[in-house]
Amino acid sequence: MEIDANTRAIGESHSKLILLGEHAVVYGKPAIAMPFPLKVRCIVEETIGHVMLNSIVYTGVVDHMPREMQGIAACMKETLNYLGKPLENLSISIDSCIPLGRGLGSSAAVAIAMVRALFAFYGKELSKEELFSLVQISETYAHGNPSGIDMVSEASDCPVWFEKGKEVLPLKSTAPLFIAVADTGRMADTRTAVDNVKKRYAANPEKVEQSLEKIDHMANKAKAALLKGDIQCLGELLNDNQQELMKLGVSDEGLNGLVQRALKAGALGAKLTGGGMGGCMLALGKNMEHAKLIAKELREYGASNSWYFSTDSDMLYGVYE
Ligand code: PMV
Repeated sequence: MEIDANTRAIGESHSKLILLGEHAVVYGKPAIAMPFPLKVRCIVEETIGHVMLNSIVYTGVVDHMPREMQGIAACMKETLNYLGKPLENLSISIDSCIPLGRGLGSSAAVAIAMVRALFAFYGKELSKEELFSLVQISETYAHGNPSGIDMVSEASDCPVWFEKGKEVLPLKSTAPLFIAVADTGRMADTRTAVDNVKKRYAANPEKVEQSLEKIDHMANKAKAALLKGDIQCLGELLNDNQQELMKLGVSDEGLNGLVQRALKAGALGAKLTGGGMGGCMLALGKNMEHAKLIAKELREYGASNSWYFSTDSDMLYGVYE
């Protein structure tokens, strides 16, 4: 964050990957998430008149923001209200590299960047508690009943162990992870995916509970594997997690195809990441060259985009045809 004589301030955030435990986390099970170095930047500037928003989705006065941006609008209004500032004389620009609705947590990342920029603009310190309670407003619009894992992992600089309502623990792997991420190119509908799991739970509680218990167990084993640097074991757990996500009905043909392709390319493990039903998947490589190869093969297979990176660096590499 930086402040420029109070006439301009910048707030930033990165996106996130859920390594293991999505969906189960909504039911109080643990999950592991990590920063993904795709970034969003929000610039707040002084102007005269109505608050103006400038983003790839919408440019214009805040009062006419489209339905899909209502969470951000509500978060902005509540932040200004909390700061005791009027809803006027501001220009808010959002510049994001995070594709929308792909399970990479773009909505929480935009809200984090915006809350940070507004606090910086008014020269106010921002605590984690303030940040999370303001971003949660936007997340509730996006997801209905979000676990909070997106905003917590996006406000963190290292992987986190997350359990709803409990203290968030930083989780540093003793060995770097080499990860390839691929985008199906289709919007992931997290709200529908979460609702579908809920319906399955209502229809067949024993079966869904069994999957959730297994994922809980996997998350605990993955935590131990990360702490030991046992990447082979972590890969197997990613595969097991994908099997349970398939049983929960949140994977789809496109995601399954990319997962299979990654495994064929020698990935140690692969699974969807985020809400599923479209969106992105991730695969664990043996080293950086291998992650690059997997990302390249996923792109050739039909991913609309793919990236690779190592958790010991902030650099993200894209694969371009
Ligand atoms: O699709 P995303 O990036 O918003 O991730 C959602 C993760 C879920 O576990 C499916 C939902 C949640 O609130 O934790």
